[in-house]
Amino acid sequence: PVVRLEDYRPTDYLIDTVKLDVRLHPTATRVTAELALRPNPKGTPGAALTLDGDELRLVSARLDGVALGAAAYAVTPSSLVLHAPPQRPFTLTLETELDPSANTKLMGLYRSSGIYCTQCEAEGFRRITYFLDRPDVLSVYTTRIEADREEAPLLLGNGNPVERGEVPGTGRHYALWHDPFPKPCYLFALVGGRLDKVSQTYVTGSGRAVEIAIHVEAGKGERATYALDALARSMRWDEKVFGREYDLDVFNVVAVSDFNMGAMENKGLNIFNDKYVLASAEKATDADYANIEAIIAHEYFHNWTGNRITCRDWFQLCLKEGLTVFRDQEFSSDERSRPVKRIADVRTLRAQQFAEDAGPLAHPVRPAQYREINNFYTATVYEKGAEVIRMLKTLIGAEAFRRGMDLYFERCDGTAATVEDFIACFAEASGRDLSQFFTWYEQAGTPTVTASSHYDPAARTYRLDLAQRTPPTPGQAEKRPVVIPVALGLVGESGRELPLKAGNEVPLANGVLTLDGPALSVTFTDVPERPVPSLLRGFSAPVRLEMDLADEDLFVLFRHDRDPFNQWQAAQTVATRVILEATRAARAGQAISVDARLGEALAHFLDSRAEADHAFAAQVLALPTEADMAREIGGDVDPDAVFTGRLAVKRALGAALADRLAALYGRLASRGAYSPDAASAGRRALRHAALDLLAAGDAARGTELAVAQFAAADNMTDRFGALAVLAHLPGAARETALADFAGRFHDDPLVLDKWFALQATIPEAGTLDRVRELTRHPAFSMGNPNRVRSLVGSFAMGNATQFNRADGAGYDFLADVVIALDPKNPQVAARLLTAFRTWRMLEPGRRAKAEAALKRVAGTPGLSPDVSDISGRSLA
Ligand code: ARG
Ligand code: ZN
Repeated sequence: PVVRLEDYRPTDYLIDTVKLDVRLHPTATRVTAELALRPNPKGTPGAALTLDGDELRLVSARLDGVALGAAAYAVTPSSLVLHAPPQRPFTLTLETELDPSANTKLMGLYRSSGIYCTQCEAEGFRRITYFLDRPDVLSVYTTRIEADREEAPLLLGNGNPVERGEVPGTGRHYALWHDPFPKPCYLFALVGGRLDKVSQTYVTGSGRAVEIAIHVEAGKGERATYALDALARSMRWDEKVFGREYDLDVFNVVAVSDFNMGAMENKGLNIFNDKYVLASAEKATDADYANIEAIIAHEYFHNWTGNRITCRDWFQLCLKEGLTVFRDQEFSSDERSRPVKRIADVRTLRAQQFAEDAGPLAHPVRPAQYREINNFYTATVYEKGAEVIRMLKTLIGAEAFRRGMDLYFERCDGTAATVEDFIACFAEASGRDLSQFFTWYEQAGTPTVTASSHYDPAARTYRLDLAQRTPPTPGQAEKRPVVIPVALGLVGESGRELPLKAGNEVPLANGVLTLDGPALSVTFTDVPERPVPSLLRGFSAPVRLEMDLADEDLFVLFRHDRDPFNQWQAAQTVATRVILEATRAARAGQAISVDARLGEALAHFLDSRAEADHAFAAQVLALPTEADMAREIGGDVDPDAVFTGRLAVKRALGAALADRLAALYGRLASRGAYSPDAASAGRRALRHAALDLLAAGDAARGTELAVAQFAAADNMTDRFGALAVLAHLPGAARETALADFAGRFHDDPLVLDKWFALQATIPEAGTLDRVRELTRHPAFSMGNPNRVRSLVGSFAMGNATQFNRADGAGYDFLADVVIALDPKNPQVAARLLTAFRTWRMLEPGRRAKAEAALKRVAGTPGLSPDVSDISGRSLA
């Protein structure tokens, strides 16, 4: 069944308070829910009450304390219906039973390595008790959790702890929690288990003492201290930048090892995939540390953007997710390097969201319909959703943006809001009409901006012509123009920034042109020399830019642009051109020749600027990926030709820059103990980028250096960095290092995930067999989402040539895994299947094989709604 935004109507009943009594048991957990209901003044009087339920066994049902007669209600696999509820406030008391150990979907209440935990977003609460499982029903929760004391000495709930005690003579104990803030049921959580904790007292700006704690598997406490520190820093930052303070006496984070996604912002009790909590020098990379910091912040920031103000319905998901991603990106930018963070975020946006937007799964930031909401936790809702907020800030300015946020917190606190409510605050705060801006929420597809220009030296004028168009996407053939902030500058050939003067009627403010029609022509005056335009500075809008700048102009921007994003972009654009040409030659069976100017520009860059910002330099040295190139080509893609073309360019650069890279590699060697700070991480990133290029140019030298680094490493970043370089160099050294790594970390699943992932991305014909073999490795399990994503996900999303094998065996493998996994964990299965999202861009032979595999999945009887939705849309 399809759910549509336009069909929204409020519920007929409200649930003001919820009293839960959860008696934990490994296979037969009993839940008593006492719901205080009343008719909703906005609902239909006299309507039946339909509560959602899923895989529950109803034990008893009482109305105002009296057992319900069989005729008064009906139970179906997905609901409990009360035919004629009282038209006054009443209490419904429901007792249900469920089996947490059998819950392989990891939605609702389940057990992970002996720990009871919950995941309720989006629709998991109905797997705990019958309920109005939708985000616009806000209730105050009191939760009593009871468990065997030995099995679960720690019992955590939402809100503040109230009381705890023994259940005499049973070996059991209980804890009582109360959350004073009304919340939707998707924010409910509980945890029971034997866990270690690290904690500290955090004092808010207004003087409230909060006990903040992170709970992890026994023996792993030491590995949670970085996350705890990141949490304290997030709390301080939200006070400073958004004026938001924490509002309870405690804030608990629990890390579990079986989790469908990254983490979850349950009120006062965040639950995390342990991959995004646990870190130590020996076992986590710099990238792991950065992810932990960002996700800890993200979930914490949801306390205001998501929890205090929640969503009216799931169509409004971007209201909390896009905004909270924007907030966590800003936090990381302030804590680390802003330009480098921006480049990294744009890389992710292009790799994930642009890919999604260009294929059959394209949808607007605020979708208008869905079959399975879990399939809409997408790069479009999250990442493009964040870009839309960023554009809003650019368009109205930082001050009006902050006033709009303040107004939003003031006006919508305690409500389940819509995107309209949110945007109205910014319209008011800025005095602007934002109705056309709203198109960003409603229209799918990545707009293309085309630019051309003309300089008149005699008149000293420079004309810039811009135009936009958005390609059709599923269900949206016609597109309207969107409001595109184009941040720009004019750069003289010698590198100086030229003045930006244009007439009063030109929509130009603070270096930002607003393109809101199909086309715009602007003439700049008093331009003293021929300028090179630097457009979309800081990537001011999530669009594709088409402009035929000469290579020489791109080199000017690479050298001189004052905007670091566009410096980087200029180098990427040249590299893209060079790889495109090499790919064309490879496809045509011709000899590949690589334009030497790219190497010369990079040599100059390494000589003059690499030392100024290591992390930035690492981004400059990283070539566009095979997937980037495939999107650039756009259709009839031959992944083998892309691989060959790209590798040829990499080898040529590695050879041309060999001496510089080797010197850089030597200079950047680690000194002293490992520290995960941004500067140290940047140094390591550049060192590994240098080694990676060097190894492409000279495999023997690369192998020698990587083997030495692997052996000497005292931290995971260096060790895994070396292993990753070796992975691309076939031979005995690689296999020895892989075996050594597995032996060293055989008892640590999170580290073995890196080992699985790396092997799955080896671009060689033997990889599919290797991956199949690894599915039988003792450390691998189809039941654990991290293992599946590491091995199968990395193969399908990170190995362009082997997933896209010409014989279709890669596609068949993925289809087999999806079909096998679907009955156990449909959410993870559906996510894996999105690896086919760009299948129509392939050359005809592979396209046919991909289609056949998708059809085989789609035709499998008994598919979950999750997988059937993705396979159906992918084929439509
Ligand atoms: N709200 C969580 C977060 O982004 C993610 C929940 C994902 N839920 C899902 N059903 N996929 O922080
Ligand atoms: Zn989120």
